[in-house]
Amino acid sequence: MKKTTFTFPTQIVFGNGAIQTIPQELSKFQIRKALIVTDKGLLQTGLVDTITRQLKIAGVLYAIYDGVQGNPVEQDVYNGVKVYKDNVCDFVIGIGGGSPLDIAKLICLKSTHDLPLEEYEDSKSGYEKISSNLPSFMAIPTAAGTGSEVGRSAVVTLESSGRKTVIFSPHLLAKVVIADPELTVRLPRELTAATGMDALTHNLEAYLAKNFHPICDGIALEGIKLVSNNLRRAVKEGTDLEARGNMLAAAMMGAIAFQKGLGVTHSLAHPLSTISGLHHGLANAIMLPHTMTFNSQVSVDRLADVALSLGVETTGLSPEESTQAAINQVSILCQDIGIPTNLRQVGVLAEKIPVLAEQAIQDNCHQLNPRACTLQDMIDIYSAAI
Ligand SMILES: [Fe+2]
Repeated sequence: MKKTTFTFPTQIVFGNGAIQTIPQELSKFQIRKALIVTDKGLLQTGLVDTITRQLKIAGVLYAIYDGVQGNPVEQDVYNGVKVYKDNVCDFVIGIGGGSPLDIAKLICLKSTHDLPLEEYEDSKSGYEKISSNLPSFMAIPTAAGTGSEVGRSAVVTLESSGRKTVIFSPHLLAKVVIADPELTVRLPRELTAATGMDALTHNLEAYLAKNFHPICDGIALEGIKLVSNNLRRAVKEGTDLEARGNMLAAAMMGAIAFQKGLGVTHSLAHPLSTISGLHHGLANAIMLPHTMTFNSQVSVDRLADVALSLGVETTGLSPEESTQAAINQVSILCQDIGIPTNLRQVGVLAEKIPVLAEQAIQDNCHQLNPRACTLQDMIDIYSAAI
């Protein structure tokens, strides 16, 4: 059996009211001044205020950087580093969904690492250039989707290529995560649906990914089950704290599981964000039934396991029938939570497919997809989803 390393190091303070532990958690660090990294939308909702109140109780000084965009670009990082340095900060607190949390990680990186961001790109083994000399980072998620709070990677669009790129290092991990379901109850219905489908895609792609990682496999199957049992409830009734909590857990499980790897769904979704401006979770949701069909040729047994986690009654079904039932179940879930059924409905036209496919094949995520992908495969899968 191939030699490998399994690590699950993040401390997660989880549960309703978890933000009240922030002063206690911050007291474990020597902090001169913290930089809060968030976006303008969250600042306006007053949600950031509920957290800064805790910093005041802790007696921790802070500055706020709210310049993170929905699909963040390289400049968002550099602008944040400037605020960090101008205020002589030595600690970073990310508050938000995947974008603010990812940019918070990259601000940590760029505050001490001088090379241009593209030099740290995972596909170029950039992780070898990332040392442990980074400021400590606290992650406070306000959405259940990317699971970025427990992830060791960050996604950003590079100016030089216009592509979304992944920067990966264990040193990017948060020192502590404050996962409070109450912070997610105000997430609008559409975003709850889209981010929840991102969590499902992470768990599902991780389970199908080629690497040997039985620990991640177990986490992924349970994550799929949690999404299947709770996403409809969270979309229908945003204040359902039990469903919100289970989705927050499922999102973190997805991100923990995808240290094993992702797959072609993410490679197809990334260009849909950079070129067509789609929300990442929405792009994954629309592509997922089609990528499951694409992978069904080689992943019948694994997709039959997925069917079980999705709550399909598989007794008496062949593995192929179970696989088809899993695909149908994902489509039904998408319909139930109001996800558009095809790319045309979200403004992506067929003539865009060649340029989308060109970027998708360059994206690194499909390297661990169970079925090898060609440029023509990318074109075919997009075409099926139009
Ligand atoms: Fe994702």
